[in-house]
Amino acid sequence: MMLQNSRHAALAFAALLMVFEWAQCAAFGQRPSDFRTPPAPATPHLNGPKVYGVRPSHPFLYRIPCTGNRPIRFSAKNLPSSLKLDRHTGIISGKAPENPSEYLVTLRASNALGKDSRPIKIVVGDTIGLTPQMGWNDWYSYTRHITDGVVRGAAAKMVSSGMADYGYQYVDIDDCWARQPTSDDPDLKGPTRDAQGNILPNARFPDMRALTAYIHSLGLKTGIYSSPGPLTCAGFEGSYQHEDADAHQFAEWGFDLLKYDWCSYGRLAKGKTIADLEAPYIKMGGILKGLDRDVVLNMCQYGMGDVWKWGRQVGGNSWRTTGDLGAVRGDRLPGFYQVGFANAVLSDDAGPGGWNDPDYILIGTVGDRPTSLTHEEQYSYMSMWSLMAAPLLFSGEMSKLDEFTLNVLCNSEVIDIDQDSLGKQGVIVRKTEDEFILEKRLDDGSVAVGYFNLTTAPRSISADWKELGLTGTQRVRDVWRQRDLGSFSENFSTQVPNHGVILVRFIAAGADH
Ligand code: GAL
Repeated sequence: MMLQNSRHAALAFAALLMVFEWAQCAAFGQRPSDFRTPPAPATPHLNGPKVYGVRPSHPFLYRIPCTGNRPIRFSAKNLPSSLKLDRHTGIISGKAPENPSEYLVTLRASNALGKDSRPIKIVVGDTIGLTPQMGWNDWYSYTRHITDGVVRGAAAKMVSSGMADYGYQYVDIDDCWARQPTSDDPDLKGPTRDAQGNILPNARFPDMRALTAYIHSLGLKTGIYSSPGPLTCAGFEGSYQHEDADAHQFAEWGFDLLKYDWCSYGRLAKGKTIADLEAPYIKMGGILKGLDRDVVLNMCQYGMGDVWKWGRQVGGNSWRTTGDLGAVRGDRLPGFYQVGFANAVLSDDAGPGGWNDPDYILIGTVGDRPTSLTHEEQYSYMSMWSLMAAPLLFSGEMSKLDEFTLNVLCNSEVIDIDQDSLGKQGVIVRKTEDEFILEKRLDDGSVAVGYFNLTTAPRSISADWKELGLTGTQRVRDVWRQRDLGSFSENFSTQVPNHGVILVRFIAAGADH
Protein backbone atom coordinates (compact mmCIF):
# COMPACT_ATOMS: atom_id res chain seq x y z
CA MET A 1 0.00 0.00 0.00
CA MET A 2 2.82 2.33 1.02
CA LEU A 3 4.60 1.41 -2.17
CA GLN A 4 1.45 2.03 -4.18
CA ASN A 5 1.01 5.45 -2.58
CA SER A 6 4.59 6.45 -3.13
CA ARG A 7 4.27 5.31 -6.75
CA HIS A 8 1.20 7.50 -7.18
CA ALA A 9 2.95 10.43 -5.56
CA ALA A 10 5.97 9.94 -7.82
CA LEU A 11 3.71 9.76 -10.86
CA ALA A 12 1.85 12.90 -9.88
CA PHE A 13 5.12 14.71 -9.36
CA ALA A 14 6.48 13.47 -12.70
CA ALA A 15 3.27 14.63 -14.41
CA LEU A 16 3.64 18.08 -12.82
CA LEU A 17 7.22 18.34 -13.99
CA MET A 18 6.15 17.33 -17.49
CA VAL A 19 3.48 20.04 -17.63
CA PHE A 20 6.01 22.57 -16.40
CA GLU A 21 8.58 21.47 -18.97
CA TRP A 22 5.98 21.53 -21.73
CA ALA A 23 4.87 25.04 -20.81
CA GLN A 24 8.49 26.19 -20.89
CA CYS A 25 9.18 24.51 -24.20
CA ALA A 26 6.02 25.89 -25.78
CA ALA A 27 7.14 29.36 -24.72
CA PHE A 28 10.51 28.89 -26.42
CA GLY A 29 9.25 26.81 -29.36
CA GLN A 30 11.31 23.71 -28.44
CA ARG A 31 10.41 20.11 -27.74
CA PRO A 32 10.85 18.66 -24.24
CA SER A 33 14.22 16.97 -23.93
CA ASP A 34 12.78 13.51 -23.27
CA PHE A 35 11.08 13.35 -26.68
CA ARG A 36 13.25 10.78 -28.41
CA THR A 37 11.98 10.58 -31.99
CA PRO A 38 13.49 13.37 -34.07
CA PRO A 39 11.13 15.30 -36.37
CA ALA A 40 10.71 13.69 -39.80
CA PRO A 41 12.68 15.47 -42.54
CA ALA A 42 10.88 17.85 -44.91
CA THR A 43 12.13 15.75 -47.83
CA PRO A 44 10.08 12.63 -48.64
CA HIS A 45 10.84 9.58 -46.54
CA LEU A 46 9.09 6.36 -47.53
CA ASN A 47 8.00 4.03 -44.74
CA GLY A 48 6.00 0.86 -44.38
CA PRO A 49 6.56 -2.86 -44.80
CA LYS A 50 8.89 -4.18 -47.50
CA VAL A 51 6.71 -7.19 -48.13
CA TYR A 52 2.96 -7.33 -48.65
CA GLY A 53 0.75 -10.37 -49.25
CA VAL A 54 -2.48 -10.47 -51.22
CA ARG A 55 -4.59 -13.35 -52.53
CA PRO A 56 -4.95 -13.77 -56.30
CA SER A 57 -7.61 -11.61 -58.01
CA HIS A 58 -8.69 -10.02 -54.73
CA PRO A 59 -9.22 -6.27 -54.29
CA PHE A 60 -5.96 -4.48 -53.52
CA LEU A 61 -5.63 -1.27 -51.51
CA TYR A 62 -2.45 0.24 -50.14
CA ARG A 63 -1.74 3.81 -49.15
CA ILE A 64 2.02 4.36 -49.48
CA PRO A 65 3.27 5.56 -46.09
CA CYS A 66 5.52 8.57 -46.60
CA THR A 67 6.51 11.58 -44.50
CA GLY A 68 7.76 14.92 -45.84
CA ASN A 69 6.23 18.18 -46.99
CA ARG A 70 3.19 17.74 -49.20
CA PRO A 71 2.51 17.86 -52.07
CA ILE A 72 4.42 14.67 -52.76
CA ARG A 73 4.44 13.00 -56.17
CA PHE A 74 4.44 9.19 -56.12
CA SER A 75 5.45 6.66 -58.73
CA ALA A 76 6.12 2.93 -58.72
CA LYS A 77 8.32 0.74 -60.89
CA ASN A 78 7.24 -2.79 -61.77
CA LEU A 79 3.74 -2.45 -60.34
CA PRO A 80 1.50 -5.28 -61.65
CA SER A 81 -0.57 -3.94 -64.54
CA SER A 82 -3.83 -4.75 -62.72
CA LEU A 83 -2.98 -2.10 -60.10
CA LYS A 84 -3.01 1.65 -60.47
CA LEU A 85 -1.29 4.30 -58.40
CA ASP A 86 -2.77 7.73 -57.77
CA ARG A 87 0.34 9.91 -58.12
CA HIS A 88 -1.02 12.60 -55.83
CA THR A 89 -2.38 10.58 -52.92
CA GLY A 90 0.00 7.63 -53.14
CA ILE A 91 -2.93 5.21 -52.97
CA ILE A 92 -2.49 1.98 -54.94
CA SER A 93 -5.73 0.23 -55.81
CA GLY A 94 -7.12 -2.35 -58.20
CA LYS A 95 -7.18 -6.12 -58.31
CA ALA A 96 -4.32 -8.44 -57.45
CA PRO A 97 -2.91 -10.43 -60.39
CA GLU A 98 -4.66 -13.73 -61.10
CA ASN A 99 -1.68 -16.00 -60.59
CA PRO A 100 0.52 -16.58 -57.57
CA SER A 101 3.72 -14.63 -58.15
CA GLU A 102 6.07 -12.10 -56.61
CA TYR A 103 6.57 -8.53 -57.81
CA LEU A 104 9.63 -6.57 -56.78
CA VAL A 105 8.22 -3.07 -56.86
CA THR A 106 10.16 0.15 -56.25
CA LEU A 107 8.13 2.95 -54.72
CA ARG A 108 9.28 6.49 -55.36
CA ALA A 109 8.30 9.80 -53.82
CA SER A 110 9.46 13.33 -54.59
CA ASN A 111 8.64 16.84 -53.43
CA ALA A 112 10.11 20.30 -54.02
CA LEU A 113 12.98 19.51 -51.65
CA GLY A 114 14.06 15.99 -52.55
CA LYS A 115 13.12 12.39 -53.23
CA ASP A 116 13.21 8.89 -51.80
CA SER A 117 12.69 5.33 -52.99
CA ARG A 118 11.91 2.07 -51.21
CA PRO A 119 11.41 -1.51 -52.36
CA ILE A 120 8.29 -3.49 -51.57
CA LYS A 121 7.73 -7.10 -52.59
CA ILE A 122 4.12 -7.81 -53.45
CA VAL A 123 3.52 -11.50 -52.89
CA VAL A 124 0.42 -12.81 -54.64
CA GLY A 125 -0.44 -16.08 -52.96
CA ASP A 126 -2.34 -17.73 -50.18
CA THR A 127 -0.73 -15.95 -47.22
CA ILE A 128 -1.82 -12.51 -46.07
CA GLY A 129 -0.66 -10.58 -43.03
CA LEU A 130 3.01 -10.99 -43.94
CA THR A 131 3.84 -8.28 -41.41
CA PRO A 132 1.95 -7.52 -38.17
CA GLN A 133 -1.17 -5.36 -38.48
CA MET A 134 -0.84 -1.68 -37.65
CA GLY A 135 -3.73 0.61 -36.87
CA TRP A 136 -6.29 1.57 -34.27
CA ASN A 137 -9.01 -0.31 -32.40
CA ASP A 138 -11.75 1.54 -30.53
CA TRP A 139 -12.28 -0.85 -27.61
CA TYR A 140 -10.43 0.76 -24.73
CA SER A 141 -11.60 4.26 -25.56
CA TYR A 142 -15.21 3.60 -26.55
CA THR A 143 -16.45 0.18 -25.38
CA ARG A 144 -20.26 0.26 -25.83
CA HIS A 145 -20.36 3.85 -27.08
CA ILE A 146 -18.78 3.35 -30.48
CA THR A 147 -20.50 5.07 -33.43
CA ASP A 148 -20.06 5.51 -37.17
CA GLY A 149 -19.03 9.12 -36.56
CA VAL A 150 -16.28 8.15 -34.13
CA VAL A 151 -14.88 5.57 -36.55
CA ARG A 152 -14.89 8.07 -39.42
CA GLY A 153 -13.20 10.61 -37.18
CA ALA A 154 -10.52 8.09 -36.22
CA ALA A 155 -9.84 7.29 -39.87
CA ALA A 156 -9.55 10.97 -40.80
CA LYS A 157 -7.26 11.51 -37.82
CA MET A 158 -5.05 8.59 -38.82
CA VAL A 159 -4.29 10.54 -41.97
CA SER A 160 -4.22 14.10 -40.58
CA SER A 161 -2.07 13.19 -37.56
CA GLY A 162 0.52 11.60 -39.86
CA MET A 163 0.07 8.10 -38.37
CA ALA A 164 -0.82 6.72 -41.81
CA ASP A 165 2.49 8.11 -43.13
CA TYR A 166 4.23 5.62 -40.84
CA GLY A 167 2.16 2.62 -41.90
CA TYR A 168 -0.84 2.69 -39.55
CA GLN A 169 -3.58 1.38 -41.75
CA TYR A 170 -6.42 -0.52 -40.04
CA VAL A 171 -9.30 1.33 -38.38
CA ASP A 172 -10.98 -1.41 -36.39
CA ILE A 173 -14.42 -1.53 -34.83
CA ASP A 174 -14.56 -3.75 -31.75
CA ASP A 175 -17.61 -5.04 -29.88
CA CYS A 176 -20.98 -3.21 -29.68
CA TRP A 177 -21.66 -2.31 -33.31
CA ALA A 178 -24.41 -4.97 -33.59
CA ARG A 179 -27.67 -5.05 -31.64
CA GLN A 180 -28.04 -6.14 -28.07
CA PRO A 181 -31.04 -8.43 -27.52
CA THR A 182 -31.52 -7.42 -23.88
CA SER A 183 -30.98 -3.68 -24.30
CA ASP A 184 -33.46 -0.94 -23.41
CA ASP A 185 -31.37 1.62 -25.22
CA PRO A 186 -33.30 2.72 -28.32
CA ASP A 187 -30.01 2.87 -30.24
CA LEU A 188 -29.07 -0.69 -29.45
CA LYS A 189 -32.28 -2.67 -29.15
CA GLY A 190 -34.45 -4.26 -31.84
CA PRO A 191 -34.27 -7.46 -33.86
CA THR A 192 -30.68 -8.60 -34.21
CA ARG A 193 -31.24 -10.04 -37.71
CA ASP A 194 -33.56 -9.40 -40.64
CA ALA A 195 -36.08 -11.93 -41.96
CA GLN A 196 -33.38 -13.60 -44.06
CA GLY A 197 -31.12 -13.98 -41.04
CA ASN A 198 -28.71 -11.19 -41.99
CA ILE A 199 -27.04 -9.56 -39.01
CA LEU A 200 -28.11 -5.95 -38.40
CA PRO A 201 -25.94 -3.12 -37.16
CA ASN A 202 -27.38 -0.96 -34.39
CA ALA A 203 -28.69 2.55 -34.99
CA ARG A 204 -25.23 4.05 -34.41
CA PHE A 205 -24.08 2.42 -37.65
CA PRO A 206 -26.66 3.54 -40.20
CA ASP A 207 -24.74 2.46 -43.30
CA MET A 208 -21.82 0.04 -43.03
CA ARG A 209 -21.10 0.09 -46.76
CA ALA A 210 -20.82 3.88 -46.77
CA LEU A 211 -18.56 3.74 -43.71
CA THR A 212 -16.09 1.29 -45.26
CA ALA A 213 -16.19 3.19 -48.55
CA TYR A 214 -15.22 6.36 -46.72
CA ILE A 215 -12.31 4.63 -44.95
CA HIS A 216 -11.17 3.03 -48.20
CA SER A 217 -11.31 6.41 -49.94
CA LEU A 218 -8.54 7.49 -47.56
CA GLY A 219 -6.51 4.46 -48.62
CA LEU A 220 -7.05 2.83 -45.21
CA LYS A 221 -8.59 -0.48 -44.22
CA THR A 222 -11.16 -1.40 -41.64
CA GLY A 223 -11.94 -4.25 -39.30
CA ILE A 224 -15.06 -5.60 -37.62
CA TYR A 225 -15.71 -7.82 -34.62
CA SER A 226 -17.82 -10.87 -33.82
CA SER A 227 -17.93 -13.97 -31.66
CA PRO A 228 -18.43 -17.65 -32.52
CA GLY A 229 -20.91 -17.70 -29.63
CA PRO A 230 -24.53 -16.47 -29.73
CA LEU A 231 -23.46 -13.30 -27.92
CA THR A 232 -20.32 -11.21 -27.86
CA CYS A 233 -18.50 -10.49 -24.61
CA ALA A 234 -20.56 -7.32 -24.13
CA GLY A 235 -23.81 -9.22 -24.83
CA PHE A 236 -24.39 -8.16 -28.46
CA GLU A 237 -25.39 -10.46 -31.31
CA GLY A 238 -22.71 -13.03 -32.20
CA SER A 239 -22.25 -15.29 -35.22
CA TYR A 240 -23.22 -18.69 -33.78
CA GLN A 241 -25.01 -20.72 -36.48
CA HIS A 242 -24.72 -17.75 -38.85
CA GLU A 243 -20.98 -17.97 -39.47
CA ASP A 244 -21.18 -18.26 -43.23
CA ALA A 245 -23.79 -15.54 -43.68
CA ASP A 246 -21.98 -13.15 -41.34
CA ALA A 247 -18.58 -13.60 -42.95
CA HIS A 248 -20.11 -12.94 -46.36
CA GLN A 249 -21.94 -9.94 -44.98
CA PHE A 250 -18.75 -8.50 -43.48
CA ALA A 251 -16.95 -8.94 -46.81
CA GLU A 252 -19.86 -7.50 -48.72
CA TRP A 253 -19.90 -4.46 -46.46
CA GLY A 254 -16.22 -4.06 -47.31
CA PHE A 255 -14.37 -5.07 -44.14
CA ASP A 256 -10.74 -6.13 -44.32
CA LEU A 257 -10.27 -7.75 -40.91
CA LEU A 258 -12.32 -9.77 -38.45
CA LYS A 259 -11.57 -9.97 -34.75
CA TYR A 260 -13.27 -13.18 -33.64
CA ASP A 261 -13.69 -13.27 -29.87
CA TRP A 262 -14.48 -16.51 -27.98
CA CYS A 263 -16.91 -14.95 -25.38
CA SER A 264 -20.18 -16.89 -24.98
CA TYR A 265 -18.91 -19.74 -27.14
CA GLY A 266 -17.42 -21.05 -23.90
CA ARG A 267 -20.88 -22.28 -22.90
CA LEU A 268 -21.30 -24.25 -26.13
CA ALA A 269 -17.87 -25.77 -26.47
CA LYS A 270 -17.97 -29.46 -25.61
CA GLY A 271 -14.82 -29.23 -23.54
CA LYS A 272 -11.48 -27.61 -23.55
CA THR A 273 -9.56 -30.07 -25.73
CA ILE A 274 -7.49 -28.55 -28.50
CA ALA A 275 -10.09 -29.82 -30.98
CA ASP A 276 -12.85 -28.03 -29.02
CA LEU A 277 -10.84 -24.83 -28.94
CA GLU A 278 -9.96 -25.04 -32.61
CA ALA A 279 -13.43 -25.86 -33.92
CA PRO A 280 -14.97 -22.35 -34.18
CA TYR A 281 -11.80 -20.91 -35.66
CA ILE A 282 -11.44 -23.72 -38.21
CA LYS A 283 -14.96 -22.94 -39.29
CA MET A 284 -14.49 -19.17 -39.57
CA GLY A 285 -10.92 -19.41 -40.90
CA GLY A 286 -12.13 -21.69 -43.71
CA ILE A 287 -15.00 -19.38 -44.62
CA LEU A 288 -12.78 -16.29 -44.72
CA LYS A 289 -10.30 -18.03 -47.01
CA GLY A 290 -13.10 -18.71 -49.48
CA LEU A 291 -14.26 -15.08 -49.70
CA ASP A 292 -13.57 -12.89 -52.69
CA ARG A 293 -11.69 -10.32 -50.61
CA ASP A 294 -8.83 -10.56 -48.14
CA VAL A 295 -10.08 -10.54 -44.56
CA VAL A 296 -7.36 -10.80 -41.93
CA LEU A 297 -8.39 -13.07 -39.03
CA ASN A 298 -7.49 -11.74 -35.59
CA MET A 299 -8.24 -14.56 -33.15
CA CYS A 300 -9.14 -13.57 -29.62
CA GLN A 301 -9.46 -16.36 -27.07
CA TYR A 302 -6.89 -15.17 -24.52
CA GLY A 303 -4.27 -17.84 -25.21
CA MET A 304 -6.30 -20.96 -24.32
CA GLY A 305 -4.77 -24.29 -25.32
CA ASP A 306 -1.53 -22.58 -26.33
CA VAL A 307 -3.24 -21.02 -29.34
CA TRP A 308 0.13 -19.86 -30.70
CA LYS A 309 0.89 -23.51 -31.56
CA TRP A 310 -2.12 -23.95 -33.84
CA GLY A 311 -3.55 -20.49 -34.59
CA ARG A 312 -1.90 -20.32 -37.98
CA GLN A 313 -3.19 -23.78 -39.04
CA VAL A 314 -6.78 -22.77 -38.37
CA GLY A 315 -6.45 -19.62 -40.47
CA GLY A 316 -5.49 -17.02 -37.87
CA ASN A 317 -3.22 -14.14 -38.86
CA SER A 318 -2.76 -13.18 -35.22
CA TRP A 319 -3.96 -14.51 -31.91
CA ARG A 320 -4.21 -12.88 -28.55
CA THR A 321 -1.80 -14.63 -26.22
CA THR A 322 -3.17 -13.29 -22.93
CA GLY A 323 -6.25 -11.75 -21.32
CA ASP A 324 -7.05 -8.04 -21.58
CA LEU A 325 -3.95 -5.94 -21.04
CA GLY A 326 -6.01 -3.05 -19.69
CA ALA A 327 -7.17 -5.22 -16.80
CA VAL A 328 -3.68 -6.21 -15.69
CA ARG A 329 -2.73 -4.16 -12.67
CA GLY A 330 1.00 -4.00 -12.33
CA ASP A 331 2.68 -4.30 -8.99
CA ARG A 332 6.37 -3.52 -9.14
CA LEU A 333 5.98 -2.61 -12.83
CA PRO A 334 2.99 -1.40 -14.87
CA GLY A 335 0.77 -4.17 -16.30
CA PHE A 336 2.09 -4.10 -19.86
CA TYR A 337 5.41 -5.54 -18.68
CA GLN A 338 3.70 -8.65 -17.31
CA VAL A 339 1.82 -9.15 -20.58
CA GLY A 340 5.01 -8.46 -22.55
CA PHE A 341 7.06 -10.96 -20.52
CA ALA A 342 4.39 -13.66 -21.04
CA ASN A 343 4.28 -12.97 -24.77
CA ALA A 344 8.05 -12.79 -25.15
CA VAL A 345 8.59 -16.48 -24.39
CA LEU A 346 6.45 -17.44 -27.40
CA SER A 347 8.95 -16.29 -30.00
CA ASP A 348 9.13 -19.62 -31.84
CA ASP A 349 5.50 -19.48 -32.86
CA ALA A 350 5.25 -16.13 -34.65
CA GLY A 351 6.16 -15.46 -38.25
CA PRO A 352 4.92 -14.04 -41.55
CA GLY A 353 1.18 -14.60 -41.78
CA GLY A 354 0.67 -15.43 -38.07
CA TRP A 355 1.61 -13.22 -35.11
CA ASN A 356 1.47 -13.37 -31.34
CA ASP A 357 -0.86 -10.58 -30.18
CA PRO A 358 -0.25 -9.23 -26.66
CA ASP A 359 -3.15 -6.75 -27.02
CA TYR A 360 -3.32 -3.06 -27.75
CA ILE A 361 -0.99 -0.13 -27.21
CA LEU A 362 -2.60 1.73 -24.34
CA ILE A 363 -0.93 5.11 -24.20
CA GLY A 364 -2.08 8.68 -24.80
CA THR A 365 -5.56 9.40 -23.53
CA VAL A 366 -7.52 6.19 -23.16
CA GLY A 367 -11.19 7.14 -23.13
CA ASP A 368 -10.98 10.29 -21.06
CA ARG A 369 -8.03 9.19 -18.92
CA PRO A 370 -4.49 10.27 -19.69
CA THR A 371 -2.12 7.32 -19.35
CA SER A 372 -0.38 6.97 -16.02
CA LEU A 373 2.72 5.54 -17.73
CA THR A 374 5.84 7.68 -17.62
CA HIS A 375 7.45 8.74 -20.88
CA GLU A 376 10.19 6.16 -20.40
CA GLU A 377 7.64 3.42 -19.78
CA GLN A 378 5.84 4.33 -22.98
CA TYR A 379 9.04 4.06 -25.03
CA SER A 380 9.62 0.69 -23.33
CA TYR A 381 6.11 -0.48 -24.25
CA MET A 382 6.49 0.43 -27.92
CA SER A 383 10.01 -1.02 -28.07
CA MET A 384 8.91 -4.30 -26.53
CA TRP A 385 5.95 -4.66 -28.90
CA SER A 386 8.16 -3.87 -31.91
CA LEU A 387 10.87 -6.32 -30.87
CA MET A 388 8.15 -8.96 -30.43
CA ALA A 389 6.77 -8.32 -33.94
CA ALA A 390 3.42 -7.66 -32.28
CA PRO A 391 0.49 -6.04 -34.05
CA LEU A 392 0.76 -2.30 -33.39
CA LEU A 393 -2.82 -1.36 -32.67
CA PHE A 394 -3.26 1.83 -30.71
CA SER A 395 -6.43 1.90 -28.62
CA GLY A 396 -6.23 5.37 -27.12
CA GLU A 397 -8.48 8.24 -28.08
CA MET A 398 -7.65 9.44 -31.61
CA SER A 399 -9.27 12.84 -31.12
CA LYS A 400 -6.98 13.49 -28.15
CA LEU A 401 -3.69 12.44 -29.76
CA ASP A 402 -0.95 14.60 -28.34
CA GLU A 403 2.55 15.29 -29.56
CA PHE A 404 4.22 12.93 -27.12
CA THR A 405 1.95 9.98 -27.98
CA LEU A 406 2.73 10.53 -31.66
CA ASN A 407 6.41 10.68 -30.79
CA VAL A 408 6.09 7.17 -29.31
CA LEU A 409 3.84 5.73 -32.01
CA CYS A 410 5.56 7.25 -35.02
CA ASN A 411 9.24 6.47 -35.19
CA SER A 412 10.06 5.03 -38.62
CA GLU A 413 13.12 3.08 -37.45
CA VAL A 414 11.28 1.49 -34.53
CA ILE A 415 8.39 0.53 -36.79
CA ASP A 416 10.84 -0.96 -39.29
CA ILE A 417 11.88 -3.41 -36.57
CA ASP A 418 8.28 -4.47 -35.96
CA GLN A 419 7.51 -4.74 -39.67
CA ASP A 420 10.76 -6.40 -40.73
CA SER A 421 10.27 -8.84 -43.62
CA LEU A 422 12.06 -11.74 -41.95
CA GLY A 423 9.18 -11.83 -39.49
CA LYS A 424 11.16 -13.12 -36.52
CA GLN A 425 9.83 -12.37 -33.06
CA GLY A 426 12.63 -11.20 -30.75
CA VAL A 427 14.07 -13.71 -28.31
CA ILE A 428 14.87 -13.22 -24.64
CA VAL A 429 18.60 -12.84 -24.07
CA ARG A 430 18.40 -11.95 -20.37
CA LYS A 431 15.60 -11.73 -17.84
CA THR A 432 16.33 -10.89 -14.24
CA GLU A 433 14.47 -8.89 -11.59
CA ASP A 434 16.28 -5.78 -12.81
CA GLU A 435 17.04 -6.23 -16.47
CA PHE A 436 15.39 -7.53 -19.59
CA ILE A 437 17.12 -7.87 -22.94
CA LEU A 438 15.26 -8.80 -26.13
CA GLU A 439 16.99 -9.43 -29.43
CA LYS A 440 15.42 -9.54 -32.89
CA ARG A 441 17.21 -10.71 -36.04
CA LEU A 442 16.37 -8.60 -39.06
CA ASP A 443 16.14 -9.34 -42.75
CA ASP A 444 19.23 -7.32 -43.72
CA GLY A 445 21.45 -9.27 -41.30
CA SER A 446 21.43 -6.55 -38.66
CA VAL A 447 20.19 -7.22 -35.15
CA ALA A 448 17.89 -5.10 -32.97
CA VAL A 449 18.37 -5.26 -29.21
CA GLY A 450 16.31 -3.65 -26.46
CA TYR A 451 17.96 -3.07 -23.09
CA PHE A 452 15.14 -2.62 -20.56
CA ASN A 453 15.79 -1.30 -17.09
CA LEU A 454 13.16 -2.73 -14.73
CA THR A 455 14.35 -0.81 -11.69
CA THR A 456 13.43 2.60 -10.35
CA ALA A 457 16.94 4.05 -10.71
CA PRO A 458 19.02 4.68 -13.83
CA ARG A 459 21.23 1.71 -14.55
CA SER A 460 24.06 0.72 -16.80
CA ILE A 461 23.24 -2.46 -18.76
CA SER A 462 25.80 -4.31 -20.74
CA ALA A 463 25.87 -7.41 -22.94
CA ASP A 464 28.80 -8.98 -24.73
CA TRP A 465 28.88 -10.43 -28.21
CA LYS A 466 28.84 -13.99 -26.89
CA GLU A 467 25.53 -13.39 -25.14
CA LEU A 468 24.12 -11.58 -28.17
CA GLY A 469 25.47 -14.03 -30.76
CA LEU A 470 27.43 -11.31 -32.56
CA THR A 471 30.97 -11.28 -33.91
CA GLY A 472 33.44 -8.64 -35.07
CA THR A 473 33.05 -4.91 -35.13
CA GLN A 474 29.50 -3.61 -35.03
CA ARG A 475 28.18 -0.18 -35.85
CA VAL A 476 25.64 0.65 -33.15
CA ARG A 477 22.64 2.82 -33.89
CA ASP A 478 20.31 4.34 -31.30
CA VAL A 479 17.02 3.51 -32.98
CA TRP A 480 14.77 5.94 -31.11
CA ARG A 481 17.09 8.91 -31.57
CA GLN A 482 18.03 7.72 -35.08
CA ARG A 483 21.71 8.37 -34.64
CA ASP A 484 24.86 6.27 -34.68
CA LEU A 485 26.64 5.73 -31.40
CA GLY A 486 29.94 4.50 -32.86
CA SER A 487 31.61 1.16 -33.51
CA PHE A 488 32.02 -1.48 -30.84
CA SER A 489 33.65 -4.88 -30.59
CA GLU A 490 33.03 -7.57 -28.00
CA ASN A 491 30.67 -5.62 -25.79
CA PHE A 492 28.15 -2.77 -25.68
CA SER A 493 27.08 -1.04 -22.44
CA THR A 494 24.49 1.64 -22.15
CA GLN A 495 22.99 3.85 -19.48
CA VAL A 496 19.25 3.16 -19.29
CA PRO A 497 16.74 5.42 -17.52
CA ASN A 498 14.50 3.94 -14.80
CA HIS A 499 11.73 1.82 -16.33
CA GLY A 500 13.22 2.89 -19.65
CA VAL A 501 14.81 1.28 -22.65
CA ILE A 502 17.70 1.78 -24.99
CA LEU A 503 16.87 0.24 -28.33
CA VAL A 504 19.80 -0.25 -30.66
CA ARG A 505 20.54 -1.86 -33.97
CA PHE A 506 23.85 -3.67 -34.47
CA ILE A 507 25.12 -3.50 -38.04
CA ALA A 508 28.19 -5.60 -38.85
CA ALA A 509 31.10 -3.46 -40.03
CA GLY A 510 31.26 -3.43 -43.80
CA ALA A 511 27.60 -4.41 -44.22
CA ASP A 512 25.96 -1.93 -46.56
CA HIS A 513 22.63 -0.73 -45.26
C1 GAL B 1 -12.82 -9.11 -24.69
C2 GAL B 1 -11.61 -8.86 -25.56
C3 GAL B 1 -11.43 -7.36 -25.69
C4 GAL B 1 -12.68 -6.76 -26.28
C5 GAL B 1 -13.91 -7.15 -25.46
C6 GAL B 1 -15.19 -6.71 -26.14
O1 GAL B 1 -13.02 -10.47 -24.57
O2 GAL B 1 -10.48 -9.45 -25.00
O3 GAL B 1 -10.30 -7.08 -26.50
O4 GAL B 1 -12.81 -7.17 -27.61
O5 GAL B 1 -13.97 -8.54 -25.28
O6 GAL B 1 -16.32 -7.07 -25.41
